[in-house]
Amino acid sequence: MACIQACSNAMILALTWPPEAYLWFKTLHIVGVVVWFAGLFYLVRLFIYHREAEELEPGLRTAFQAQYALMERRLANIITTPGMVVAVACAAGLLSVNPSWLHQGWMHAKLGFVAVLLAYHWFCYRLMGQLQAGTCRWTAKQLRALNELPTLLLVIVVMLVVFKNQFPTGAATWFMVALVVFMAGSIQFYARWRRLRAESLTAEVSG
Ligand code: HEM
Repeated sequence: MACIQACSNAMILALTWPPEAYLWFKTLHIVGVVVWFAGLFYLVRLFIYHREAEELEPGLRTAFQAQYALMERRLANIITTPGMVVAVACAAGLLSVNPSWLHQGWMHAKLGFVAVLLAYHWFCYRLMGQLQAGTCRWTAKQLRALNELPTLLLVIVVMLVVFKNQFPTGAATWFMVALVVFMAGSIQFYARWRRLRAESLTAEVSG
């Protein structure tokens, strides 16, 4: 009964939107998504710098960490979360104009991945609190790996929205596996390069 009521409410709402409403919602949805992702990518990069600042001598460390904490809070509250709110609100607008999307398999899959993305967003806030309290246990290398998760979610969600019910499952799986291998390889390569550079700097200073 409640379901029938909800469907008829959605249909009434859909009938009252002006014809171009769908395109406006879609435009703002895409803008919100771009802002949200820009914020998520840069936020965890700041976490990495915040964590690496622990290697500095005490005076510099305090100054750098205070600056990173300020940048993280502003980025999260002024860019990342508003981007998320616009993307999600306009997605709700798109669904209210065209509720039939909710009966399609690709949309169910998309909503599942968006739930993971929202959990990631919440987890970033948690990490930000821990970094600011000095209780974060994540290493810079682990944060680098974490920073790749939204890239994977972005690729898969954009593929879902473009291919819809013609989603190429086999090719997409190979593409995602190749992407994960490339990302893991790059993180290992960079960690090794940083270690070798630190060793050669130490040798230069002591020699
Ligand atoms: C809050 C959950 C979300 C819902 C309910 C939702 C729903 C929708 C709907 C109904 C469309 C219009 C599809 C069409 O007209 O063909 C759309 C378009 C789009 N969405 Fe989302 N979306 C959500 C989150 C996201 C996220 C997180 C991303 C990015 C990772 C994203 C990326 C896109 C893109 C790029 C388009 C444009 C596709 C096109 O015009 O071909 N959406 N979304």
